[in-house]
Amino acid sequence: MDTHFIEEGLVKIEVPDFEKVSAKAPVFYNPVMELNRDISVVVLNQYRKTLDHDIVIFDAFGGTGIRGARYSKEIGGVEKVLVGDVNPLAVDIARKNMELNDITNVDVEKNDANVLLQSNKGLFDVIDIDPFGTPAMFTQSTAINIRPGGLICISATDTSALCGTYHDPCIRKYGAKPLKTEYCHENGIRILLAFIARNLAVNQKYMHVLFSHSTEHYMRIYATVQRGGKKTNKSLENIGFIAHCNNCLHREVVYGYVPPVKDICPDCGEKYSVAGPMWLGNISDKEFIKDMIETTGELELNKKEEVLKLFNQCYEEAEGPISFYDIHKLCKTLKISSPKMNDVIEEIKNKGYYISRTHFKLTGMRTDMPLKELKQLISDVKEEKLGKDV
Ligand SMILES: C[S@@+](CC[C@H](N)C(=O)[O-])C[C@H]1O[C@@H](n2cnc3c(N)ncnc32)[C@H](O)[C@@H]1O
Ligand SMILES: [Zn+2]
Repeated sequence: MDTHFIEEGLVKIEVPDFEKVSAKAPVFYNPVMELNRDISVVVLNQYRKTLDHDIVIFDAFGGTGIRGARYSKEIGGVEKVLVGDVNPLAVDIARKNMELNDITNVDVEKNDANVLLQSNKGLFDVIDIDPFGTPAMFTQSTAINIRPGGLICISATDTSALCGTYHDPCIRKYGAKPLKTEYCHENGIRILLAFIARNLAVNQKYMHVLFSHSTEHYMRIYATVQRGGKKTNKSLENIGFIAHCNNCLHREVVYGYVPPVKDICPDCGEKYSVAGPMWLGNISDKEFIKDMIETTGELELNKKEEVLKLFNQCYEEAEGPISFYDIHKLCKTLKISSPKMNDVIEEIKNKGYYISRTHFKLTGMRTDMPLKELKQLISDVKEEKLGKDV
C-alpha cells in the first residue's frame, strides 16, 4: 500500500494514497471530514470540562486512527482511547500512527464495533460511531454500553434514506417515514434522533442533545445519556410526527405515537403527507454551543473559521420552532420572484415574531409567524408596501 503523510490538528498521520475517496480504498481516509473531526474535538473538550474525572473514549470505526490520535492529543483529561476497526490494514496503519505521534494511551484493536461495545460494558464515557452509511445496527449496543452520564457521537451518511429520496431504506433502517421537503435534512436528523432515543429507551436510558448538524453528505449528532425509567418515559414525549402540505407548505407538528392529525390541510384542503416518528425535542443546546464557541478559540484547528461559522448559525437557530420555510418555495406558491431575504427577515423581526436563518439551508427561514401572514408579508415586501422604501 502506497502512503503519504497529512497534518490535521496536532497530529501527523500516514494515510493511503488515493485518487478518489471511497469505501473500497485499502484504508479509508476522507479529508473532507476534517471539519467533522475538528467539531468533534471541540464537543469532546467542552463535554470533558463538565466532568470532574478523566475520560475513556471509544472510537469504534477507527480507519487510519486519525480520530483516536486527535482525541488523545487535543482533548484535555483523556485517560485512554480504544480504537477499533474490522479491517486489519486499518489496524496496522492506526497502530503506526500512534507511534508516529508518540501516543501511548491509545489501544488499537481489530474487531467489530458491536463486539467491542458489548465486551466493554460501562467502560466508555464517550462512544464515537462513524461508520460507512447508516449507524442503525450499532445504536443498540451503544445504548446498552454507554456509561450513565456518557456522551454518544453518531454519524450517518445515508442521507438519501433519512431525507426521503428513498422511502423504503428509511422505514427498514429507522422504522420511520421520511419526507422530501425543503427542510428534509432537519427531518433526517429528527428521524435519526428518534431512532436513537427509542434504542436508549429499551435500556431505560434517555438523552440530552448537545449538538447536531447536517453538513455536506453526512449528519452528526452529539448527546449525553442518563438512566432512569420515569425520565425515559418523559423523554419519549418528545417523539411525534410532522404533517406537511405539499401544495401550500402548511405544516403541523403532532406529539405522540399515533398521529392524531386530520389528514387534510386546513389552509388549502390538500391531503397531508405525514413523516415520522421524529424527535421533536431540541436538536441542540444553545448554552452548550455558546461554551463551544469560547472553547474553539482556545484550540488549534485548521478549520476554525468554518467551525465557528457553523456554531454561530446553530446558536442563532437553536431555540427556534420545528422546521423552516424556504423563501424560493414560498414565492413559487405566490407566483412571484423572491424579494431580498434580509428585507423579509427584517419585517418579520419588526412584527415581533421569532426569526432566524438556518444552517440547513441558505434560503431557509425559521419563524413562528403563521404561514398565511408570512406569505402576505413576503408579497408586501416584494411590492415594497413595507420597509424603508415606503
Ligand atoms: C467511515 S470510515 C471511518 C473513518 C474515521 N472515523 C475517520 O474519521 O477517518 C469507517 C471504518 O469502519 C470500518 N468498519 C466497517 N464496518 C465495521 C464494523 N462492523 N466494526 C468496526 N469497524 C468497521 C471500516 O474498515 C472503516 O475503516
Ligand atoms: Zn395546504
